[in-house]
Amino acid sequence: LNCAHQGPLPKVAAASARRAIRQKMTPQLISENEFDEVPRQLRQALATLIDRPCDEIILGNSATFGIDLIANGIPWKSGDEILLVKGDFPATTVPWMGLRVSGVRLRFVSPANGRFIEVADVEHSLNTNTKALCVSWVNSYSGWKCDVQEIGRVCQEHGVLFVVNGTQGIGRHVLNLSSGRINAIVCSGYKWLCGPYATGFCWLDANTSQMLRKPSLRWWPLRKMDIEHIPEDDAFYAGPQFRDVFCSANCFNFCPWSAAIKYLTSCGIDNVERYGDALVAKLLNGIDGSVFQVISAASSGDRSGIVVVSHADSTKNPLIFDHLAQSGFDIALRKGNLRISPHLYNSQDEIDRFARCINQHGRSL
Ligand SMILES: Cc1ncc(COP(=O)(O)O)c(C=O)c1O
Repeated sequence: LNCAHQGPLPKVAAASARRAIRQKMTPQLISENEFDEVPRQLRQALATLIDRPCDEIILGNSATFGIDLIANGIPWKSGDEILLVKGDFPATTVPWMGLRVSGVRLRFVSPANGRFIEVADVEHSLNTNTKALCVSWVNSYSGWKCDVQEIGRVCQEHGVLFVVNGTQGIGRHVLNLSSGRINAIVCSGYKWLCGPYATGFCWLDANTSQMLRKPSLRWWPLRKMDIEHIPEDDAFYAGPQFRDVFCSANCFNFCPWSAAIKYLTSCGIDNVERYGDALVAKLLNGIDGSVFQVISAASSGDRSGIVVVSHADSTKNPLIFDHLAQSGFDIALRKGNLRISPHLYNSQDEIDRFARCINQHGRSL
């Protein structure tokens, strides 16, 4: 019950990882072709997952990779302002911090409701210097999901670049990128997308992609050219293969991650979402409201795959966390609260057993 930390590798993905290990034990079996095929297949799997063209997908190793690409790839000017959200997960905010030395101002918006950012917060915070807003779709600590379509609409109206960290939502919720309101997505691969650790991707719309400086050059996509005469013009380097993490034929990570993504896509993210929502509803129904306070959203529209609760006396949470671990339940203790995050591999029965266990521990304290 801890997918928000790490999602388990599906069996098809584990089989793919074993194949990659077998190959590396007999490297004569690794064909030249795979250096192109491994990144191609992963890019295709991600493009299908988010329903965007392959040439807009950049392969990375984390969510941080994508934010770094955007924060340090766009030539901001001194006086430009980037909006971030107070209390957001540090992967969404820290990669921007280095820009301060060049005069870029970072401003933290405090959500008026104290939990997650709403359209009104953004409207009140924009000014003529605001160039970008970067938010986590689902807050890792509170489980609240912000309305990225509405926030994106406001950003679009004001010409503000809207960057969304989809790490705690993509693979769990359907995300519509065809509205044109979101300009960039960054995402870790090892949570709701059930990939190995050190996987992630970035999606940029065509305009955002054009804003980026020329990438650092790497030899692999240029290997068939006369290296002394490789082109200098930026347009040549527009393809995503020039922005991928170096060594993108990373068989140990990218082959199983491709398999995991294809598996999720074959289930249908709309089905995954419905199934997960039912688990969350059952969990919220099962938790004793006279003992626990629910910190994540109560109403279904704002809920995510993350349920956060606290004992009425929050100092008891670490003890409850230990009891649950001893009873075989893997959840997380984050900012002093109990975070429960089931995904498609959990059953309704597991949720029932968990609710009984947490209630029993909670009441006995
Ligand atoms: C919202 C969010 N973004 C990103 C990460 C991880 O970042 P990275 O993939 O850069 O390690 C987490 C991990 O908990 C997270 O909750």
